[in-house]
Amino acid sequence: MCGIVGYIGNKKSAPILVEGLKKLEYRGYDSSGVALLTDKKIEIIKAEGKLKNLVEVLANYTSAQNSSHIGIGHIRWATHGVPNELNAHPHMSNSERIAIVHNGIIENYKELKISLEKQGHKFYSQTDTETIVHLIAQEKKSAKDLKSAVQNALKKIQGAYALCVISLDEPDKIIVARKNAPLLIGIGEGENFIASDIPAIIEHTKKAVYLEDDEFAIVKNDHYEIYDVLSGTKIEKTPEILPWEPIALSKNGYKHFMLKEIHEQPDVIRKNLFNRLVAIDRPIILNEVKLSPENLKNLERIQIIACGTSMHAALVGKYIIEEYTGIPVDVEASSEYIYRNTITNAKTLVIGVSQSGETADTITAIRQAKAKGSHILIITNRADSTMARDADSLICVDAGIEVSVAATKSYTAQLMSFYLLMLYIAETKGCIKTEEAAKIKEQMLQLPQKLEEVLSHKEKIKECARIFANSKDFIFIARGINFPVALEGALKLKEISYINATGYSAGELKHGPIAMLDETMPVLAILMKGRVYDKILSNAEESKARHARLIALTSSTDENLKSIFEIIINVPEINEILSPVITTVPLQLLAYYIAEFLGKDVDQPRNLAKSVTVE
Ligand code: F6R
Repeated sequence: MCGIVGYIGNKKSAPILVEGLKKLEYRGYDSSGVALLTDKKIEIIKAEGKLKNLVEVLANYTSAQNSSHIGIGHIRWATHGVPNELNAHPHMSNSERIAIVHNGIIENYKELKISLEKQGHKFYSQTDTETIVHLIAQEKKSAKDLKSAVQNALKKIQGAYALCVISLDEPDKIIVARKNAPLLIGIGEGENFIASDIPAIIEHTKKAVYLEDDEFAIVKNDHYEIYDVLSGTKIEKTPEILPWEPIALSKNGYKHFMLKEIHEQPDVIRKNLFNRLVAIDRPIILNEVKLSPENLKNLERIQIIACGTSMHAALVGKYIIEEYTGIPVDVEASSEYIYRNTITNAKTLVIGVSQSGETADTITAIRQAKAKGSHILIITNRADSTMARDADSLICVDAGIEVSVAATKSYTAQLMSFYLLMLYIAETKGCIKTEEAAKIKEQMLQLPQKLEEVLSHKEKIKECARIFANSKDFIFIARGINFPVALEGALKLKEISYINATGYSAGELKHGPIAMLDETMPVLAILMKGRVYDKILSNAEESKARHARLIALTSSTDENLKSIFEIIINVPEINEILSPVITTVPLQLLAYYIAEFLGKDVDQPRNLAKSVTVE
């Protein structure tokens, strides 16, 4: 989380920094700030809240804006210290001659702070970051230059960081460093750029070098040098051409990016099937999987590691892979996976699922699994991400850039990857009948059209949103393959409307949660025709008997449902195993319309960030 940018060149730095930060707002929006290096001083300008607040404040600093050609900027997702102006980055040394921005968490900051305070450094914020700038200032007292001071400081800090440092004493450079947080240097003509992510610099250059962990670099306007933190050895790197075109992010007439992205899902499915599912009687083509057919056949298990919405896609993946390939599959939250002794080996395929490819917990987890000899398959929306770089096999889900913090189209694209992967494994192993595979493929090809049908009949969903928008709590129930959808429906609702929503396996209700039901509680049952239809219907009846207000999301047209459910949201019939694609979208819309009805900040919900780069 947090985004950083830097500029050094002949242009005015402030507008470049602000534009860059705008592209990084998905990484946090608790506060923002810039440090502009001028001939006389380092001007720090910060504002609490969204970037537009910084833009307003910046207007009062025309002189610094006009004279600064070197600067660093930051957009914050608060980890240590409340989101206010004081805790906003950049942070300065007491001499006001060094300023830094930081993304990550410094784990040993308390010890360092105590020792630095003893040495006379005065702290003003509650952040871990401020420790770094004082540490650099302290090191500077005995180091020959800023480079050595930064390097010495880096050796003393533990944790994760992407850093930019500027100093009034060496005004011709920005020093940058990276450990477990992304950072790239964009290379221009007589100017260079620094950013946490490509969108912040792509309008200026397509040439860049990525810093790896434990590397730091001196960036001047006409060149850069990269060094290893520990040994100090110089590292040569050839710049890469970024796989991106500058894109104008537009809502295309929709009120929010989330609504636009929900509507893009039919096309996302088409894109993901293109060239992979070429005909229903032909095997799936998934050249991205680099595991040999022999190794694939010998797999003893699969572990899928992910967080949040990506983990919900993974749970659908588990269901279908176990169903059709017979390989046992475990799904685990990355944050849990990393702090225990996981039984992983060369006969385990480890799949990391991540929209951003930058989720810190998932990165750590896959690296842990890789060290134990597992083949790492990454399913991500970002082919240029850290996870993609670590992958042995890479399936890029091709959902296009997702701006809304709440994931929608990337989830559907992840589901498509799992359907393709399941069929690919089953066909390679020879454990699915050709006719059965053909039936699934035929329905997969119908998914975009069926989803378009869902998207063109939103009235019931809007009505449901209007009726239940003021609910304090919300329950989603389902079983089998739609259980993960109940979890996802609840997650979507709580993250953008802040309603306390929970997804339950319908069969689990009677083991505790049923105690919460009364006439104020909406219970939405996902009721798709298939093997657990009758079971869920009974669970819904049990809820009705406890006076809960029942909503059905169903492919059934059974008139009798009207006596149980206050609202019935109909969706097209589809093979049960593909139904999560169809059932998720109305729940995304329901969350959207409820949040919109409540006047919430749909695209940038409070406390969240799109890319969770801290553990
Ligand atoms: C929810 C959401 C989050 C992410 C989670 C993992 O809408 O977006 O729950 O799914 O933070 O992020 P990625 O997929 O980037 O690893």
